[in-house]
Amino acid sequence: MLVSAKEMLNKARDGHYAVGQFNINNLEWTKAILQTAQELSAPVILGVSEGAGKYMCGYTTIVGMVKGMIDNLGITVPVALHLDHGTFEAAKACINAGFSSIMFDGSHYPIEENIKLTTALVNTCDILGISLEAEVGAIGGEEDGVIGMGECADPKECKQIADLGVTMLAAGIGNIHGKYPANWPGLRFDVLADIKAAVGDMPLVLHGGTGIPEDMIKKAISLGVAKINVNTECQIAFTAAVRGYIEAGKDLSGKGFDPRKVLAPGVDAIKATVKEKMEIFGCIGKA
Ligand code: 13P
Repeated sequence: MLVSAKEMLNKARDGHYAVGQFNINNLEWTKAILQTAQELSAPVILGVSEGAGKYMCGYTTIVGMVKGMIDNLGITVPVALHLDHGTFEAAKACINAGFSSIMFDGSHYPIEENIKLTTALVNTCDILGISLEAEVGAIGGEEDGVIGMGECADPKECKQIADLGVTMLAAGIGNIHGKYPANWPGLRFDVLADIKAAVGDMPLVLHGGTGIPEDMIKKAISLGVAKINVNTECQIAFTAAVRGYIEAGKDLSGKGFDPRKVLAPGVDAIKATVKEKMEIFGCIGKA
């Protein structure tokens, strides 16, 4: 069964650890993440971007796949299926498709518009028992080869959005999607502390989990971060492992061309990455 992320995040906040959101891109990733969470007895959030949603043939396909895996793999740890950085339209589509958690990213709108659209989703999600993540302050990342540094969230705006009754809040604090550039100045803990002071108990979400040093992750958790998103690191690990298998070349004759064999090293690499992250986040054994 899919669950809302609310309970797992409130527990993480109270227990001073973070739950991992690992983005899924195909069946192999989904299976690897679910099996690792089960093996480590950790709650987990499966993130789906709109692009990954299209790639995997739509949100209803994903709901069917994830629910089927939970049943057939005997997954008993809490699993939330979460839209990552959704538009308002994608949020509605995922609610209709059966997702248990939604991120509406209104951070690029003026704050009034972000409040209006987030408010419209708060009531619906509340009635349906779906967790809702909102965003304030843009998270940086690569676009057309240029890495934007993002824009730190205004703590007052964070409070305005938190007060609407969302489940969790993503706030830009100098974090970036994808790899961090060599001149990255690090997370803005001063801004994070101000946001935490403004929003109180609201679980905070740290995007761009790839490449943030362990000490910064732990400090962010100590300042109220209860959910950390990871995608690029799994992509890098998966691709490197599959490439290594193919370049080794030795097994590509005979049965070596079987896609289940070719992708197996990638699956193992995802499992290792998820385990490593869960160790740092402190969520192992918390299911
Ligand atoms: P990374 O790709 O940098 O790990 O970020 C993932 C993320 O924040 C998804 O929302």
